[in-house]
Amino acid sequence: MIKVHTHEAKTFVADEVIVSSLEASKKSFEQLKSKTGKGAEWLGWNDLVANPDDALLSEIDDLAASIRANADVFIVVGIGGSYLGAKAVIDALIDSRGSKKVEILYAGHHMSGTYLTRLIDYISKPKADGSKKSVYMNVISKSGTTIEPALAFRFLRDWMNSTYGVADAKKRISCTTSPNGGALNKIIEANGYKKFIIPDNVGGRFSVFTPVGLLPIAVAGIDVKSFFYGAVSSYKAIQSNSETLIDYTATRFALYKTGYKIDVIASFEPELLGIGGWLQQLLGESEGKEHNGLYPAVHGYSTDLHSLGQMVQDGERNLFETFITVKTPAKQLVVKSDEDNYDGLNFVAGKTMHEINSMGFLGTKEAHLEGGVPVITIELDRISPEEIGASLYFFELSCGVYVYNIGVNPFDQPGVEAYKKAMYRLLGK
Ligand code: PA5
Repeated sequence: MIKVHTHEAKTFVADEVIVSSLEASKKSFEQLKSKTGKGAEWLGWNDLVANPDDALLSEIDDLAASIRANADVFIVVGIGGSYLGAKAVIDALIDSRGSKKVEILYAGHHMSGTYLTRLIDYISKPKADGSKKSVYMNVISKSGTTIEPALAFRFLRDWMNSTYGVADAKKRISCTTSPNGGALNKIIEANGYKKFIIPDNVGGRFSVFTPVGLLPIAVAGIDVKSFFYGAVSSYKAIQSNSETLIDYTATRFALYKTGYKIDVIASFEPELLGIGGWLQQLLGESEGKEHNGLYPAVHGYSTDLHSLGQMVQDGERNLFETFITVKTPAKQLVVKSDEDNYDGLNFVAGKTMHEINSMGFLGTKEAHLEGGVPVITIELDRISPEEIGASLYFFELSCGVYVYNIGVNPFDQPGVEAYKKAMYRLLGK
């Protein structure tokens, strides 16, 4: 199970604010559990972890195995919650993938013609032995009307039909969308594509434990059942003891009420930055409403210590940091002793890179705390499918509870419509 350390952050907050925030979090958790809070009709993401659908997990596993056996490339077409969860898990678990590694590419997450042209050029290029690349694709859109994935699908569908022929292309395309309605459902019906469902009561950014996340994760060769059941154990653990959840959400809330407005999600492990990106969307789209909410930023260290580190250490004191750390890394690398020692690095000879990286984290934490930055640490034991599943579920639940604390609906995103309306007007729709 993940551990959350909040004691250092709490020293920046008055005791009475902590006490009232703990009370608020307890109340919010009860509201979420009893489905009496705002947007309760979208709590399906919690129910599906409470009642695992093993038949669905097996169906996904079987389809993924057959795609893995035949595909060189698998394209995930989707935007926001329709692809960030899968990408986060695949990036984090790159080392736990099975022996047959299908290349996972992403499309439909922006409208760049340059990106799409390069992608199509790449998949059109034959393999080293001169044969055609075998490409499969999963199009994910709950609404079925989002322009970014819809446009990418139009181009890629054409490419698939002309490259493999309509009948073969049909076997290579699967779609994930809501049970009814939306343009994607019309395309599925007209072409007979394989369809997976995002339940109506699960929002995009909470959908990583539905086929939205599970199919791409399984095609990548990650043990999807262990991933899912990691979430189930997290659910059960929190049902019997919610102390960590309450403490984490209360600390975040107390910091917000004290005047901290930016949550810098930071990790010294590059493979965890995808989780940072997923979390950024989960938190940002859930809490940024009615002029409320912490701004979630993602920093990759050490890289960003040499760009944003100055700002964190010494800029305006309106941010706190949430470090995501790992106790046991996926790989170990030991620094060798060097006879000449011209680089002066023999003082770390015999140490693993992980030991050095850990000191980088501890040193950074010490400096930032001294500089006036409250620090929360979320510690994973290891990067395994179970642990990542457990963490993602913990973050979903803590997001719901925290957003209830600030008093808005965590599960809608009315603000996202504004840019669409303006764009469609400019495009003459
Ligand atoms: O969390 C959300 O609901 C959004 O980020 C959606 O996932 C995103 O806008 C994509 O929507 P759709 O799946 O309808 O194409």
